[in-house]
Amino acid sequence: MACKTQITSIFFSIKFHFFLLSIINSASSQQILNTESTTNRTTTEDCNNRWIHIRNLPSRFNLDLLTNCSEYPLFDDFCPYLANHGLGPKTHAKSRSWYRTDPLLLELVFHRRILEYPCLTDDPNVANAIFLPYYAAIDSLRYLYGPDVNSSFQHGMELFDFLQSDEPGIWKRHMGHDHFLVMARPAWDFSQPLNNDPPIWGTSFLELPEFYNATALVPEGRAWPWQEHAVPYPTSFHPQNLAFFEAWIQRVKRSKRTTLMLFAGGGGIGATPNIRRSIRNECENSSINNNSSRFNVLENNVMYSKICDIVDCSNGICEHDPIRYMKPMLQATFCLQPPGDTPTRRSTFDAILAGCIPVFFEELSAKMQYVWHLPEEKYAEFSVFIPKEEVVFKGLRILDVLMGIPRSEVRRMRESVRDLIPRVMYRRHGSSLGLRTKKDAFDTAMDGTLQRMRERLANILAR
Ligand SMILES: *[C@@H]1O[C@H](CO)[C@@H](O)[C@H](O)[C@H]1NC(C)=O
Ligand SMILES: *[C@@H]1O[C@H](CO)[C@@H](O)[C@H](O)[C@H]1NC(C)=O
Ligand SMILES: *[C@@H]1O[C@H](CO)[C@@H](O)[C@H](O)[C@H]1NC(C)=O
Ligand SMILES: *[C@@H]1O[C@H](CO)[C@@H](O)[C@H](O)[C@H]1NC(C)=O
Ligand SMILES: *[C@@H]1O[C@H](CO)[C@@H](O)[C@H](O)[C@H]1NC(C)=O
Ligand SMILES: *[C@@H]1O[C@H](CO)[C@@H](O)[C@H](O)[C@H]1NC(C)=O
Ligand SMILES: *[C@@H]1O[C@H](CO)[C@@H](O)[C@H](O)[C@H]1NC(C)=O
Repeated sequence: MACKTQITSIFFSIKFHFFLLSIINSASSQQILNTESTTNRTTTEDCNNRWIHIRNLPSRFNLDLLTNCSEYPLFDDFCPYLANHGLGPKTHAKSRSWYRTDPLLLELVFHRRILEYPCLTDDPNVANAIFLPYYAAIDSLRYLYGPDVNSSFQHGMELFDFLQSDEPGIWKRHMGHDHFLVMARPAWDFSQPLNNDPPIWGTSFLELPEFYNATALVPEGRAWPWQEHAVPYPTSFHPQNLAFFEAWIQRVKRSKRTTLMLFAGGGGIGATPNIRRSIRNECENSSINNNSSRFNVLENNVMYSKICDIVDCSNGICEHDPIRYMKPMLQATFCLQPPGDTPTRRSTFDAILAGCIPVFFEELSAKMQYVWHLPEEKYAEFSVFIPKEEVVFKGLRILDVLMGIPRSEVRRMRESVRDLIPRVMYRRHGSSLGLRTKKDAFDTAMDGTLQRMRERLANILAR
């Protein structure tokens, strides 16, 4: 394989960077600690109740797992997407903020970002949270798609054994209630009951009593989550300074929305009734009915030239190619977010980024998931909800619902969507101080995690 050396060099440069960064970072967190008692209270006050300790794990729990990036027979080679600390390669040479980001590498992205978190401490005893830099979803591939499929109930035990044998006091201090990690696949993939024999799908990480007390950040939680909390899927937009960020916001604002509704995705071509099929039907019919009086809808003095647009993303063709769907999303007023194999979609966040109002068909797609990032009480302001049963079984037309929303309200909703953009994007590591003043998806996840742990520990102490 010609690309083998390239892969190796990507890997080594990542490893080297990590090495460098961990040196730089332990130095700076040391500095923070040293200055803490002697000087300015603002530093300590900012970090009060926000100290995070990064657990020192052997490389077999993180970096070593990246070396096998091309070794999973039923899973695509993800080596190219390790570039830029997991943001992936840039979409093209001159791109400033756009990357071919693979959601699986959220674990790497978080790890890299936490290295520049301002309140790191080397002392686990003063930490409010302990981060486990374990690439859990990448490690799960050998159970999900590899040789260890029949021992999927063991996923996590090696980590647990390590935590109990190496400095066990760190776990014991709060029985693991202050520990958290990132698992970059839906929780469903880690929730196989321990007694399923033979195994059906998934590992049992989240079913292990050993990890009941820990917190897992996942892109999709279960309907009744226990350990996990959902955080946004990474999109492809990772600006590194305020100017690049503002330039995008301007583009979103100026964009002419000439399509009423858009669906970017696959599925819905089979015979069984489901929401994706209903969308396809409605969309195909809307172009036949081009002459209907509905067609000449005006919005912001722009006439819709398309009632419905479908970006066909079958067979994963859109996955690393954001241009395919971002341009159409910029031109659409509403972006449909039907559930597929699982209720959530990365596309929800791509749409918000494009200023396209999301249309949800079940609560589990977002409202019951991303409560830190997308506040539950704001859904009516930034999204439309149409129960899927009404569409699939009762003939409710999505078009009729969307056409019925007054133009002034559409405008207000679009502004609310734009306000959400900073919170759902993951800015590039090492970005400018100006951009750091905006809380992004990572910052919001850290606030949420720390808050959750405060509540947990208070509950335990109260018992
Ligand atoms: C603390 O820092 C701020 C600015 O960083 C400075 O203005 C202030 O004088 C400092 N206070 C003390 C007590 O050193
Ligand atoms: C990588 O794959 C090889 C063989 O496919 C296996 O022996 C090795 O244990 C794997 N390494 C990790 C860290 O999973
Ligand atoms: C897993 O177990 C099944 C049934 O016992 C067996 O057919 C299969 O070969 C096993 N797979 C592996 C990779 O060992
Ligand atoms: C989880 O916490 C409970 C107390 O809340 C404790 O009894 C239990 O031993 C802890 N589990 C582990 C694996 O540490
Ligand atoms: C689409 O149009 C066909 C033919 O006019 C009609 O039979 C079908 O019910 C329509 N489907 C939807 C979802 O409106
Ligand atoms: C519908 O008609 C308009 C002009 O009236 C045309 O520009 C547009 O391409 C047509 N759309 C479809 C899907 O046929
Ligand atoms: C649209 O309307 C015109 C006249 O009003 C008619 O000639 C044409 O066939 C219609 N097109 C379709 C696709 O219904």
